[in-house]
Amino acid sequence: MKQADRIYFGGDYNPDQWDETTLREDMRLFKKAGVNLLTLPVFSWARLEPDEGVYDFAWLDHIIGVIWENGIHICLATPTAAQPAWLSTRYPEVLPVDIQGRKRTHGMRVFFCVNSLKYRERAAAIAHEFGRRYAHHPALAMWHVSNEYGTSCYCPACQAKFRLWLRRRYGGVAGLNERWHTSFWGRQVSSFEEVTLPTELNDDYRFNPAIQLDYLRFLTDSTVECFRSEYDVLKSYNPEIPILTNMSGFIKKLDQFTFTKAMDVVGWDNYPRPQDPPHFVAMKHDIMRGLKGGQSFVLAEQSPNQQNWQPYNKLKRPGEVRLLSYQAMAHGADTCLFFQMRQSAAGQEKFHGALVSHAGHGNTRVFREAEKLGRELETLGDTFLRARTAAKAALLMDWNCWWALELASGPSRDMDYLKTLAQYYKPFHDRNIPVDIVNPAADTDYSGYRLVVAPMLYMTKPGVAERLTDYVKNGGTLIATVMSGLADENDRCVFGEYPGRLRDVLGIWVEETDALRPEERNRIVVSGETPLPRKEYGCGFLCDLIHARAAVPLAVYGDDFYAGMPCVTKNAFGKGTAYYIGTQPEDAFLGDLTAKICEENGIQGVYAADAGVEITRRQNENGATVFVLNHNQAAAAVRFGENRLTDLLTGESVAGTRIIEGRDVMILREET
Ligand code: GLA
Ligand code: ZN
Repeated sequence: MKQADRIYFGGDYNPDQWDETTLREDMRLFKKAGVNLLTLPVFSWARLEPDEGVYDFAWLDHIIGVIWENGIHICLATPTAAQPAWLSTRYPEVLPVDIQGRKRTHGMRVFFCVNSLKYRERAAAIAHEFGRRYAHHPALAMWHVSNEYGTSCYCPACQAKFRLWLRRRYGGVAGLNERWHTSFWGRQVSSFEEVTLPTELNDDYRFNPAIQLDYLRFLTDSTVECFRSEYDVLKSYNPEIPILTNMSGFIKKLDQFTFTKAMDVVGWDNYPRPQDPPHFVAMKHDIMRGLKGGQSFVLAEQSPNQQNWQPYNKLKRPGEVRLLSYQAMAHGADTCLFFQMRQSAAGQEKFHGALVSHAGHGNTRVFREAEKLGRELETLGDTFLRARTAAKAALLMDWNCWWALELASGPSRDMDYLKTLAQYYKPFHDRNIPVDIVNPAADTDYSGYRLVVAPMLYMTKPGVAERLTDYVKNGGTLIATVMSGLADENDRCVFGEYPGRLRDVLGIWVEETDALRPEERNRIVVSGETPLPRKEYGCGFLCDLIHARAAVPLAVYGDDFYAGMPCVTKNAFGKGTAYYIGTQPEDAFLGDLTAKICEENGIQGVYAADAGVEITRRQNENGATVFVLNHNQAAAAVRFGENRLTDLLTGESVAGTRIIEGRDVMILREET
């Protein structure tokens, strides 16, 4: 596969909006800023194929020619996210039917049925044109298929395909009735023809988790197929060019572990909300790195300044774009791409930030900051490309658990899987301890990890609990939590004592789970022998009523009728240890407990620093690159101890304790 020899810097460019003079001026400005890659023509299908089978690529040939004359690479996007009006008009089957059963009309982008054969046929046809023309173009760095997939559809074609999909999954209708447990509320079907998609017309999208779960799996598979219909075409012209699509951040409805199997590289769009804490953004990057087992990813979009679609579109503070960009690279990105290069003149995104604003020149704060960043990335060259992160701790994430937990009626309306993951991720982030995000499967290899944290592993799919049990038996350390082991992959509850298939390894029985209102709290009272810095911590949200069997209680509840019952337990199992946290503790508790478990297992942070300083390390054949990111507005200290490092941006040699300015960044090479 063709590999980058530099950090690609640039982003989405829509030159079909501009005239020749602007195009030339943009080239000058982009080069000035160190831009070396442009993504185009993401939404230009109508212009490239003005009528069915009639192609006009002359304008794009010209633009690509000008871009390459200027030495800038391209990430070439098939424009299939926005189908032309003639396609929707001539073949209305390409348009989606929404969850309310309404047949939508032509308009919005990403507004097509992923199962429409006509859509796939026309998308593949234009992909052929792209392949034929550009697959061997020297400027071509990667293919970008469509844009931010994620349209749900409930049209007759989807209905028919869903039935077929179920038939393949469950064999006969008896299998389906069993797996969906249709005897509840009398939902037995006698043929697949009686199965309907979960919509607002039947309310199954809210009240029938088994159907909704399978619909989401089906939607993921359908989207993958739709993506593949273009992927295969592009590959056939030149297998060397990596292919991706840019995933919309955390679009919950598509299982991204499944989706990204179909891509060569993971690509994603990072648009943190202004109020998102650094650890939340860091975790999202780590999830992206985890999707393909640690392979570096493409940061396909981020805004060089404000957005337009947040409720309040705050400006990025001076230094913030640089900080966020390096944060992505610190966690595995090998690119730094923006949406958008030039601010659009009209439309929905006219107030979205851009490298070149409506002012039209480079004499702006945003441009100057981008230019500084571009120059730095040039200096860094290929230093950390394809570098990996070595982590001894893993955090498990299962997209199906996310769906199922939040679909479940009860025990609490405040179920938030991503927030829970972030809560368990934070103590590691606070201590600069690298974490891999891992999708638990029957064949997941945990042997490289000293610690596996499994927040709310609600579903134990076949083999998953067994695998984790073996891991602990062989000496591993596991942390499991409330809402674990309750259901199978069809959301059927596990009979026998909770936490189901995890009860042996955890050595406990969860008899009941109490849900607290947001204003209610309980207390975690730490038992005498457990050396944590505090004797008491707060907890809330959910409280499991636990019987410690083989496990020993580390802490008990302080209040309510279950005061004195265990809330945190520890089980020595085989050569390993399994912890269970049966409630939602305050952050300080997780911080203290995680610190202790890490210490016991020899898991260390990259370097120590003041609070708010994030540090990661990526390793490749060039050596170890260390990223130091000060998220504070004020200066902070970093302690390198005896190690000697070279600051790659200034050339300075660094050791001992160093002060890093507010919102500043250091990129360092560890001397061996
Ligand atoms: C998404 C899209 C882009 C653009 C940006 C704006 O990520 O992929 O086309 O709309 O949002 O933030
Ligand atoms: Zn459809």
